[in-house]
Amino acid sequence: MKILVTGGTGYIGSHTCVELIKSGHEVVIVDNLYNSSITVLDAIEHITKVKPTFYQVDILDKIALNQVFLEHKFDAVIHFAGYKAVGESVSIPLTYYQNNVAGSLNLYEIMREHNVKKLVFSSSATVYGDPHTVPIKEDFPLSTTNPYGTTKLFNEMILQDLYKSDPTWSIALLRYFNPIGAHESGLIGEVPNGIPNNLLPYIAQTAVGIRDYLRVFGDDYDTVDGTGVRDYIHVVDLAQGHVKACEYVIHHESIEAFNLGTGKGYSVLQLKNAFEKASGKEVPFKIVERRPGDVATCYADPTKALELLGFKAKCDVDQMCKDSWNFQKNLK
Ligand code: NAD
Ligand code: UD1
Repeated sequence: MKILVTGGTGYIGSHTCVELIKSGHEVVIVDNLYNSSITVLDAIEHITKVKPTFYQVDILDKIALNQVFLEHKFDAVIHFAGYKAVGESVSIPLTYYQNNVAGSLNLYEIMREHNVKKLVFSSSATVYGDPHTVPIKEDFPLSTTNPYGTTKLFNEMILQDLYKSDPTWSIALLRYFNPIGAHESGLIGEVPNGIPNNLLPYIAQTAVGIRDYLRVFGDDYDTVDGTGVRDYIHVVDLAQGHVKACEYVIHHESIEAFNLGTGKGYSVLQLKNAFEKASGKEVPFKIVERRPGDVATCYADPTKALELLGFKAKCDVDQMCKDSWNFQKNLK
């Protein structure tokens, strides 16, 4: 199949391109390189021996995006392109709505005009807000606590309405839990912009001495050791979930939301300990105040993805930390 990947040079997008190519699909990438580098294309080529076709196009530029659809007949689209920093979205909400909602609307309109109606959308477990119980199932109530999360929920609602208006669409809404790790080659991985907000990149930068110590946001939650618990999923597993979702939308006409997680929760200190073991480096830490907006525990019920997509995450946190470290230690 020929697949358009928006945001394909980014963290999750690049790993997904690798897995798509490995599964025999042809990949065309659209990315404006706002949060990624052109060198990722060489890394993908190094790993797969195939260089994907690339367009440096902003999805807000409807004319340029339309041109890509005129040049290729796509079987499906995987839509990653967007901004993702929660804190920044609170400071500049209009920019987030413009990029993540207006940009997506451009894409969906152009897809409709070209009769490309198979879509895999990058949503997030953030659409569950503060869940009442865990594990989280796809039919739990949806709510958000910040503009970034709202852009994901708006996209889901827009796509539900689109499907209702025309059931020949086929759409998978993939709600990721906490992606970490990197490709085993160490050639692609997450390169955070500035000071990392997320836990694993912060731990990795502390291990190499870029940060003095990890701030653990609260140790008085009702969890195994008082620190927050999350469902960490290896980015290569996540990427393979996209291949499965892509193949699913090709063969069905439906709209379905899927949790992509492992179904297991790890605390902040458990992840820190696993990283120390994998890297052989000490990660100094201090317990500080809780971070506003954080929930105590969040992990997926991954049953639906197993039953409908045949997807099950394989890697454990030790492997995730090993691969994160392998990537981080080679970063200049
Ligand atoms: P990323 O920033 O590494 O990748 C996103 C890519 O989109 C970047 O390469 C960026 O340059 C590109 N992009 C942004 N705006 C664009 C535009 N207007 N036109 C063209 N390209 C544009 O992020 P990621 O971690 O790979 O996340 C991919 C998607 O998954 C995002 O939509 C994100 O919100 C979602 N998501 C990520 C996480 C996570 O923890 N990483 C969790 C849940 C959901
Ligand atoms: C965060 C976002 C969420 C987004 C997800 C993936 C918030 C409130 N939520 O989720 O919307 O979908 O990232 O991008 O920002 N922690 C520390 N010290 C740190 C960093 C984190 O103790 O320096 C703790 C947190 O309190 C939490 C856990 O580590 O318990 C994981 O944090 P993080 O990696 O930011 O992910 P989420 O909070 O799950």
